[in-house]
Amino acid sequence: MSRRIQLFCCRVEKKPRDTVLILVLCFARIHPPEFFKNKYAVDEAHYVTEISSVLASKKPAVLLTLRGVNTDSGNVSKEASFEGISQFNVNNTILHPEIAECRVIKTDMELEVLRYTNKISSEAHKEVMKAVKVGMKEYELESLFQHYCYTRGGMRHTSYTCICGSGENSSVLHYGHAGAPNDKTIEDGDLCLFDMGGEYYCYGSDITCTFPANGKFTADQRAVYEAVLKASRAVMGAVKPGVAWPDLHRLADRVHLEELTRIGILKGNVDDMVKVHLGAIFMPHGLGHLLGIDVHDVGGYPEGVERIEEPGLRSLRTARRLQQGMVLTIEPGIYFIEHLLEQALHDPAQACFIDNDVLRRFRGLGGVRIEDDIAVTATGMELLTCVPRTVEEIEAFMAEGQSGAKSFDSLSSQKQ
Ligand code: GLY
Ligand code: MN
Ligand code: MN
Repeated sequence: MSRRIQLFCCRVEKKPRDTVLILVLCFARIHPPEFFKNKYAVDEAHYVTEISSVLASKKPAVLLTLRGVNTDSGNVSKEASFEGISQFNVNNTILHPEIAECRVIKTDMELEVLRYTNKISSEAHKEVMKAVKVGMKEYELESLFQHYCYTRGGMRHTSYTCICGSGENSSVLHYGHAGAPNDKTIEDGDLCLFDMGGEYYCYGSDITCTFPANGKFTADQRAVYEAVLKASRAVMGAVKPGVAWPDLHRLADRVHLEELTRIGILKGNVDDMVKVHLGAIFMPHGLGHLLGIDVHDVGGYPEGVERIEEPGLRSLRTARRLQQGMVLTIEPGIYFIEHLLEQALHDPAQACFIDNDVLRRFRGLGGVRIEDDIAVTATGMELLTCVPRTVEEIEAFMAEGQSGAKSFDSLSSQKQ
């Protein structure tokens, strides 16, 4: 009788009759379970083929599997399954909220990894700021960021698709996707809004730097940039356990409105502007989100925490009160988005606050976002991100970087 031989390079699900299976493992050697027990610091490790028998020997009253809704996407996570699972009493509802809660509060070891992802990603952003030149394609800087993260930090992946918007593209919140793949040529006078974060052992980072392509802010770019920076620093000053995240969103919004009034784009009473949600025209996204294994991490809306159905606030990925050990992004932004401006100008309740003559000067500027990652401490916060932030720091850093400082690549090749 002839026997078929099949080669598999992954877990064997089924063994066809009269077939000899030769399992081709992707490791140089097959490690014993002890190896994985030590590597992952778990109580026990077993081969996948033993799942059913090992679990049965423990006579569990119930097996908990992970199934739940992602409150951002609405997607349902797929629970684990294995041959023989039907012999167990399985509950797929208890575990998800418990695991999500574990992920919301970071352990010291998790914090260490997040400090690392921020350190390397911050350095990579600085490398980009040194290298950027008018005439480059946006994707050249995306590529440089990734190259630095991998070469210097062993960070093979980014936490999300890099957003490298220049000029008007800086007002497109999730620019860089397949339909708009960072392929514009950077022009003189453009603002660059580069939102990029490297990932290490599944832990992410999420950092946005906004700077002028030619190294020097115009007066209008500077005014908008400093308005956003003021909001960012006001929020950072207010972060501590117990504070409600939506209140910090409201704080950022208020600072934006005050500063836009000072610039002259808006006119009138800021309290009245808040009542008609004018802030959401300029910052149509949430102030920030939990960060961890997912860039928009889980646990934002546990039972009892409701989404606030108001412009801007409804985009918040969490409405929780802050707790020590949470890691979040703080990412205020002011954008000049054509369709939102038109919407506001056609709404008498909002248009009355807008000085259209001044606004006209800013249309086409794009947008400014300043995004840092922070950890909530017992009394305030720890800033994980470390990049030039004030206008003076950015201009000095770019001038220094572009006046002959060698790129990390040329420095590496010199060492060899
Ligand atoms: N980079 C995605 C975000 O800022 O949420
Ligand atoms: Mn973010
Ligand atoms: Mn981001």
